[in-house]
Amino acid sequence: MTTRTIITGTGHYVPPRIVTNHDLEKLMDTTDQWIRERSGILERHHVDAGVGTSDLAVEAARRAIAEAQIYPATIDFVVAATLSPDHYFPGIGVLVQAKLGLGTIGALDVRDQCSGFIYALSAADQYIRAGTYKRILLVAAEVQSTNLDFSDQGRDMSVLFGDGAGAVILEPNPNEDDRGILSTHLYADGNFVSQLWMEKPCPKDNPTFQRSFFDEGRFFPKMDGRTVFVNACQRMPEAVRAGLVQNGLAIEDVDVLIPHQANDRISLMVAKGLKIPVEKVIRNIDRMGNTTAASIPIALDEAVKAGRIRRGSLVALTAFGSGFTWGSAFIRW
Ligand code: UT7
Repeated sequence: MTTRTIITGTGHYVPPRIVTNHDLEKLMDTTDQWIRERSGILERHHVDAGVGTSDLAVEAARRAIAEAQIYPATIDFVVAATLSPDHYFPGIGVLVQAKLGLGTIGALDVRDQCSGFIYALSAADQYIRAGTYKRILLVAAEVQSTNLDFSDQGRDMSVLFGDGAGAVILEPNPNEDDRGILSTHLYADGNFVSQLWMEKPCPKDNPTFQRSFFDEGRFFPKMDGRTVFVNACQRMPEAVRAGLVQNGLAIEDVDVLIPHQANDRISLMVAKGLKIPVEKVIRNIDRMGNTTAASIPIALDEAVKAGRIRRGSLVALTAFGSGFTWGSAFIRW
């Protein structure tokens, strides 16, 4: 059997400040009832001033490292996924590496937004199986609350998103058993770029930063919610089915499904589309909101800690987001 990649530690961190729907009612023309009914979200976490994505990533990474019971110095590569890096460049991978004191190991930054964790997991899996690296820290983190439009104009976006981070430690399976990442499937369709994006800043503008863009609110993320909704409900089940086929599995074999937490109605539609009992689906968007790349590793860590994922569990992950990008991963825990 070829060596598979196993997850030896998981961790997550969300900033302590909770923002409820009622808090948002004070900022814009929205209601707790609308947000609950349309998205399933009750509250989300927002950072305080001065806290960046790499800070959340480092906390999540420390927790995953502690759970894996490893010395940080034995990590030989970092993969970081985010759409909200501390700086325009460089990415957060190097900041995580430096803040954790990981020497001069390589640090790869992965974009791909809500699908970032699955894309990053796929890349890390290839490195491990090829023997290139032996212990990878994969961290996905977002600070989105600092660039949302909390006016009435931005209410469709700003009520959905939250801040947070999740991390995993990846290693080759040392045993002759079937544990590990069984498959990853990645997809994209760049024809939908402007359906979910942050249009500016954009270096093809000269100069990149123009006052009129600020005045027009073009530095805020924007989306066509209905198009995203419809595509998410279609693409996530497709990606899961591709994994089932490749692995010769049936949906009944899946013990736990973790869909990207974009909207609870989407998660329920994905469950319905796949005909998987809703009890097998991890749903934490009520407390987290949509934390983009961090949503799957946060949910994964919570599911592990709650005992919903155990040794031998078959776990399916699926995500959909900006790009559009989407995908799935199957893991025998
Ligand atoms: O991770 C991937 C990223 N994003 C997503 O996955 C999001 C996918 N899309 C969605 O989750 C949903 O489309 C939303 C939750 C964004 C919106 O739900 P919807 O059921 O598609 O509502 P809608 O866009 O059709 O809007 C219905 C109404 C509109 O008013 P009118 O035109 O009917 O008068 C909106 O202006 O709800 C209004 N609305 C709001 N009302 C109160 C939009 N946002 C809000 C709000 N509070 N926050």
